[in-house]
Amino acid sequence: MIVCVCNNVSERKIRQAVDDGVTSMSELREEYEVGTCCGKCHSCAKQVLRECLADARPTRPIMFHPNALAA
Ligand code: FES
Repeated sequence: MIVCVCNNVSERKIRQAVDDGVTSMSELREEYEVGTCCGKCHSCAKQVLRECLADARPTRPIMFHPNALAA
């Protein structure tokens, strides 16, 4: 699905950006110029970014046990 028509940015491209470390709309704007033309995509892009970030984050904290490295 195309999120930003003006700059041809798809949901897939946003997902890839998140995988590459993008975590905010300002970073997305810098990277792909999302929302920099007509601005109509801003809320949709924000929603897609939020969903991608939620998918990328683990649902539970990663637990580290110091004895796990002891052999
Ligand atoms: S649709 Fe994204 S700036 Fe116009």
